[in-house]
Amino acid sequence: MAQRHTVTFEPVDIEIEVSEDETILEGAFRQGIMLAHGCKEGQCSACKSFLIEGEVDLERYSTFALADYEQEEGYTLLCRAHAFSDLTVELLHYDEEMLTSGVPIRSLKTKVDSIEPLTHDIYKLCLALDGEEPLEFHAGQYVDVRIPGTDSTRSFSMSNTPAVADRLEFMIKIYPGGQFSGLLKDELAPGHELQVKGPYGVFILREHSDADLIFIGGGAGMAPIWSLLDSMAERGIHRNVTYYYGARARKDLFHVDQLQRLSERLPGFRFVPALSEPEPDDEWDGEVGLITNVVDRLEGDLSGREAYLCGPPPMIDASIPMLGAHGIPEARIFYDKFTITASEEEQEHARA
Ligand SMILES: Cc1cc2nc3c(=O)[nH]c(=O)nc-3n(C[C@H](O)[C@H](O)[C@H](O)COP(=O)(O)OP(=O)(O)OC[C@H]3O[C@@H](n4cnc5c(N)ncnc54)[C@H](O)[C@@H]3O)c2cc1C
Ligand code: FES
Repeated sequence: MAQRHTVTFEPVDIEIEVSEDETILEGAFRQGIMLAHGCKEGQCSACKSFLIEGEVDLERYSTFALADYEQEEGYTLLCRAHAFSDLTVELLHYDEEMLTSGVPIRSLKTKVDSIEPLTHDIYKLCLALDGEEPLEFHAGQYVDVRIPGTDSTRSFSMSNTPAVADRLEFMIKIYPGGQFSGLLKDELAPGHELQVKGPYGVFILREHSDADLIFIGGGAGMAPIWSLLDSMAERGIHRNVTYYYGARARKDLFHVDQLQRLSERLPGFRFVPALSEPEPDDEWDGEVGLITNVVDRLEGDLSGREAYLCGPPPMIDASIPMLGAHGIPEARIFYDKFTITASEEEQEHARA
């Protein structure tokens, strides 16, 4: 049987027991501690922490998430690290409200209920819980969906709220040849079984605050933001929200009417869609440009606000310094990076 070790997290003074055959992140989830995380596979750096004392062994990770020099200085990725002695770990990103907000992680069997296009390349997938107990989760979280016939999974954020008990809904961008998303157009059909595990993620509304909010998203990154907005409306949380959403052309926009009408349920809500490459017959008279440039141009001093960002990593990486220049410190910027699973090429650069 694998040996067990004690991990102490500073500065929050929380102690957990982990086994050598699980990652520290998995051990923490098992004990209901919701450490900061994103991809859970060494790609995004959200779980990066500092090893004050002890010895770990790292599974494969991308050097984009943890550079060699950082590893030499003592930084580590908790989603890849196995403890080989008792450890003391300094958490770099944590939130007391989040640490104890963990919902038990479950595996459940679902059935495809429906698949319908939202745009030419973003589809709505609806999974019925097929007699399972409802999945407890916080709006903004995601699950891992197993790719049928493989041991691989892909992460997808729920776009529905936890109040919808009998199903899980997703907004999924189709990548030609994508191992999972590629199945949505022709292969998956109502009735097919899909294994799901979760909920994961810390992209959830910090409710101890009543600060005004800025949401920034692009593409299928609308999914968890849609869930957060709907959940705020359902629960009567009336904080001022501006939602900036970026798409290439008009054919890439969806749910625009519902978002424009959302202020009826969510007073203080404003939706600002922007197109980065409008087509000549789009007849677009809205904002034009990359969404980060649009926010930069339209907003002034944002100090005191909180920001929630979701979408592809380059959009998030560009938003953080831009928001910083407008007065929002990194500690008040929460994000979900839709990283992709490492390609063969990336894995070659990754360390064993
Ligand atoms: C926390 C989290 C939440 C996520 N939530 C969502 C969500 O709600 N909706 C959603 O659509 N996706 C989401 N993703 C991304 C999703 O998990 C998959 O990575 C994505 O759907 C591609 O998987 P695939 O199996 O279809 O493609 P793969 O087989 O993994 O990749 C196939 C090809 O497409 C390329 N490719 C794949 N993804 C991208 C990309 N993002 N940008 C550029 N090229 C790409 C790859 O390089 C490869 O060449 C999330 C990711 C994370 C980490
Ligand atoms: S959660 Fe560890 S690198 Fe993404």
